[in-house]
Amino acid sequence: MRKIILAAIAVLAFGGVAAAQNFPSRPITIIVPFSAGGPSDAMARILAERMKVAFGEQVLVENVTGAGGSVGVGRAVRSPPDGYTISFGHLGTHVANGAVYKLGYDLVTDLEPVALLPSNPMIIVSKKAVPASSLKEFLAWLKAQPTAPTAGTAGAGSGSHIAGLYFENVSGIKLQYVPYRGTGPAMNDLVAGQIDMIVDQTSNSIGQVRAGNIRAYAITDSKRVESASDIPTVDEAGLPGFHMTLWSGLWVPKGTPKDVIAKLNTATVEALGDPAVRKQLENLGLQMPPKDKLTPQALGAWQKAEIDKWWPMIKAANVKVD
Ligand code: MLT
Repeated sequence: MRKIILAAIAVLAFGGVAAAQNFPSRPITIIVPFSAGGPSDAMARILAERMKVAFGEQVLVENVTGAGGSVGVGRAVRSPPDGYTISFGHLGTHVANGAVYKLGYDLVTDLEPVALLPSNPMIIVSKKAVPASSLKEFLAWLKAQPTAPTAGTAGAGSGSHIAGLYFENVSGIKLQYVPYRGTGPAMNDLVAGQIDMIVDQTSNSIGQVRAGNIRAYAITDSKRVESASDIPTVDEAGLPGFHMTLWSGLWVPKGTPKDVIAKLNTATVEALGDPAVRKQLENLGLQMPPKDKLTPQALGAWQKAEIDKWWPMIKAANVKVD
């Protein structure tokens, strides 16, 4: 009997080592918890394209949407901890959702951090029909509306929703939120004039701003975005201190072997170091994470610090989710 137990332990131990040594031996899936065509989807696909070069295996992107991104994160949490399913997320999905929903999983203890990804400030944008050419004029227009202006989001707890709550706090303007399965479809409705505004990730709006299809008023940062330097900061435009940076990251389910996480981290850091990838991301207004913040431990510490920072405001907003 003792021999059988020892043999079983050996298989478990060395089987895991062998699996990690051969990792990856089949396609990897990145679960993006928002619909295709939005900023999360765009970043994930740019990275996946380059990570498959590092791995020599397909790196697929699967959009699993709903409930502010928490459905997709839940799918990743419940996937086998073998490194073949990665959870793409950000400030909304891996911080705010924990203060908005009864998730059925713990954002810290049920996931293992892999790597911090690029970040970007938010941008205040409106439909083109709004007769405003500055943030001050836009705020006046919003205040003059007979009913609460409509703001597109990617669902309660999403980055665009948290940004909307923060905007309400600093401007004193009540918004009516219109939830979508991602800010890709929200942007389609903004361009069509179906909603009034979005406090959006810069990377999602910048193309439509450059095309003249929507109006941009300010960037939620203390410095302008290099690739959109004609757009003022909130400090310059009239909402001083309304600073918010939406960062993204990659996680895997708890229990994923450490050396598999290390391989995923190495491939991610390699992708972020690729000049062509950097050019694509920076052109979207995305900023690369500092080199000393690229370890799995750094993402874990950052996520915990962001939970401490954001949960009080989100809980105070008493967000109701149906
Ligand atoms: C968000 O608002 O959380 C994201 O921008 C949604 C998305 O990436 O589609």
